[in-house]
Amino acid sequence: MVYRRRWYEFFKIIRLVSSVITMEWNDKRVKLSVDPIYKKLKDYCCRHGEQINISELFKEDPDRFNKYSLKIKTPDDGEILVDFSKNRINDDVFQMLIKLATSRGVLESRDAMFKGEKINITENRSVLHVALRNLSNEPIMVDGKDVMPDVNDALNHIRYFCERIHCNEWLGYTGKPITDVVNIGIGGSDLGPLMVCEALKPYSVGLRPHFVSNIDGTHIAETLKKCCPETTLFVISSKTFTTRETLRNAYTARQWFLDSAGNEAHIAKHFVAVSTNKEKVKEFGIDDKNMFVFWDWVGGRYSVWSSIGLSVALSIGYCNFERFLGGAHFIDNHFKTAPVEQNIPIILAMIGIWYSNFYGAETHAILPYDQYLHRFAAYFQQGDMESNGKSVNRGGEPVSYSTGPVIWGEPGTNGQHAFYQLIHQGTRLIPADFIVPAISHNPISGNEHHKILLANFLAQTEALMVGRSIDDVLKTEKNETLANQKVFSGNRPTNSIVVKKITPFILGALLAIYEHKIFTQGIVWDINSFDQWGVELGKVLAQRIEPELQGNQPVSSHDASTNGLINFIKASW
Ligand code: F6P
Repeated sequence: MVYRRRWYEFFKIIRLVSSVITMEWNDKRVKLSVDPIYKKLKDYCCRHGEQINISELFKEDPDRFNKYSLKIKTPDDGEILVDFSKNRINDDVFQMLIKLATSRGVLESRDAMFKGEKINITENRSVLHVALRNLSNEPIMVDGKDVMPDVNDALNHIRYFCERIHCNEWLGYTGKPITDVVNIGIGGSDLGPLMVCEALKPYSVGLRPHFVSNIDGTHIAETLKKCCPETTLFVISSKTFTTRETLRNAYTARQWFLDSAGNEAHIAKHFVAVSTNKEKVKEFGIDDKNMFVFWDWVGGRYSVWSSIGLSVALSIGYCNFERFLGGAHFIDNHFKTAPVEQNIPIILAMIGIWYSNFYGAETHAILPYDQYLHRFAAYFQQGDMESNGKSVNRGGEPVSYSTGPVIWGEPGTNGQHAFYQLIHQGTRLIPADFIVPAISHNPISGNEHHKILLANFLAQTEALMVGRSIDDVLKTEKNETLANQKVFSGNRPTNSIVVKKITPFILGALLAIYEHKIFTQGIVWDINSFDQWGVELGKVLAQRIEPELQGNQPVSSHDASTNGLINFIKASW
């Protein structure tokens, strides 16, 4: 026993020393804006940026596709092809970007994350969503304790609960099987499970999932219209269990349920909670044994892998949920072990930085060519923008360069008939990711739909790159004024991520690619990607305004605009 403690103390000292060395090393690292490689890239872009032409690069190098695309083979779900050859990147730029990633300490920070170091420095927390899908079970230590036994217990709890619901062992208060699951949560406690349930609908085991997030009463009112109290299970999902919207919606659901069930004793069969906050869950009236846990080292926007994924597991079955975790674990291993120049998340991150920081791109489009992925871009709006929407570096100083881009997107081909005009011919540079399954879950009409969809994906990425010159237009359009309208400058960059099929494993892998891309960019930009102070101020002000909306007295405690708005609303009641 004494012997083990000594070893433990010894390892603690070693870790302390190594983290001090890493911290000092980080502190010594020059600021990004004066980093010699960053400056070199800036200079290169100023001098050559406008001449880098993607089509020309393909003509110059017949091997460009092989050189600038990567395939990784999954155990059972085919290959993932990431084609980044349609970018304004030549060999010089690529090498410099790879160097920049290395010199900014991406690898050291990645290792620190996987080791459970407290890299969320403003909240003094580890960042360990990777532990939630660590199917290898290798120990991951936080404060000297391996977190894996707790992670496995939480997974077993989900598994056991799902089995009982799916086998109709867990019944509603009148003895009927559960048919509908309503997840009540917001932000990471909603977007993840909602997006994944939609993306993996073909794997549904029969329960109908619903999601209520907005405090707008319409959301819960419309959802409850579709449900029956006898057969509905509410999953109240909130990391903190203090979020105003979620608690209000949860109390409304509780009242709706009690209006039918009549007896509070029945709540236990219809309300479960997913949270890190036991006390608050109890206060709401949910029994400990109906609480699914997770931990403060899981960020809200990374929580779909935790018990927050309960609605996913209920919807697609526990085995598929585990495959989803497996896909992410597969990419975690790739991120951990692939050399930088073959590391998909790092490459995608550095290409993004190339456009954001040197070409001045303000936004990044995510365009899935799969209807089931219709919430994918919305999910990564939180994933990316809440993580990297920061303007102060890790040392607390304002940064002098752009950080996280605006993320947006809709599924193809709907987007084509809406906003692609601007991507093709607008004045802004909009780098875009196309995400495409080669095989559809619905190969209807002899797979004709999917072939048309694929043809559109291929045509769009080609058109964005190749464009259409004035000479070509003039061959058929003799009116010069009109001809100018029909010119496409081309040279618009895209990444294409092509998978065999959107399976649970592949979806897990795709999400992890984006998570690690976001992580890498945060490290290069020297910002803390794991807090979200920017959402606090609005929450605090809303709490102050809420009581001011009572009664009909005019309000004068704010600026003239806010007073004017409040008083207009009150006068309308
Ligand atoms: O408002 C932002 C946020 O804190 C997100 O980061 C989080 O995902 C969401 O609110 C919901 O928080 P909770 O799960 O604690 O209800």
